[in-house]
Amino acid sequence: MTLTNVNSPLTLNNGVEIPCVGYGTYKTDPAATATAVTAAIQAGYRHIDTAMVYRNEEGVGQGIKAAGVDRTELFITSKLWNTDRGYEATKVAFQKTLDRLGLDYLDLYLIHWPANEKQFGAEAAKINAETWRAMEELYHAGKIRAIGLSNFMPHHVKKLLETATVKPMVDQIEVHPGWTHADEIKELQAMDIVVEAWGPLGGQGATVLTNPTMQEIATAHNKSTAQVSLRWVLQQGVLPLPKSVHVDRMKQNMDIFDFELSPTEMATISALPNLGGQCKDPDDVDF
Ligand code: A2P
Repeated sequence: MTLTNVNSPLTLNNGVEIPCVGYGTYKTDPAATATAVTAAIQAGYRHIDTAMVYRNEEGVGQGIKAAGVDRTELFITSKLWNTDRGYEATKVAFQKTLDRLGLDYLDLYLIHWPANEKQFGAEAAKINAETWRAMEELYHAGKIRAIGLSNFMPHHVKKLLETATVKPMVDQIEVHPGWTHADEIKELQAMDIVVEAWGPLGGQGATVLTNPTMQEIATAHNKSTAQVSLRWVLQQGVLPLPKSVHVDRMKQNMDIFDFELSPTEMATISALPNLGGQCKDPDDVDF
């Protein structure tokens, strides 16, 4: 499948199509979210990614409404926050997310972080399994078109698969130059799970976009370092979710389909040292 624009589809393991680039809203100020989301949809994005913990689901919903695009043309993702894990709590939290968004279904719902053994000991796997059981129920009820995970490393996914009756369709992890997760990406893709990249530009404070090697490659293609970073993600079959509140950058981040990084350039970028970003180990987080 040749990808020609941000809405060229990738096909999930349940047959649902997902636009290959999504518009991210992590760190978008709740007060600025509606305007930003409307502008992103007007710029051409159809895939919008939010989460309960971003505190901007209402703004995303308002932005969608104001854009006036038919709901069926949009692909909307949100995520279950860590304090809402468990079978009953997940169902309650999902309904609240729908209400805040003003929608009657989601295209994709993700468990935001795995419960880890550091916090939950031997209970961690059980908590994840029970949370997933609720996700499966919501999926079977037709309230979510696809269900998945975020920040699950392959070993968390394998554990979940021991009890799951529906295989996750997506896993959204932090991926950007300097934080590549190359082996994990291959392993997840081999399981027929679409990998999404959060923070594909490194996020605030990272030096991905000012790195001299990135600048050199960008100059060679007459592109920006942001575009090179997104293209590097996409050429690994990974779906990037760039965030920007600026219309010119929203458009720039869509314009990544008229150039190709060579295998050498891909390898050079993949070999860059850590350039910042959140770079958290899901087994070590305390939230
Ligand atoms: P802003 O929203 O002010 O444009 P990520 O998607 O990796 O989380 O990175 C988002 C960060 O990168 C935000 O700080 C965003 O700022 C900035 N950003 C997004 N697109 C671009 C771009 N094309 N060029 C430079 N910075 C960008």
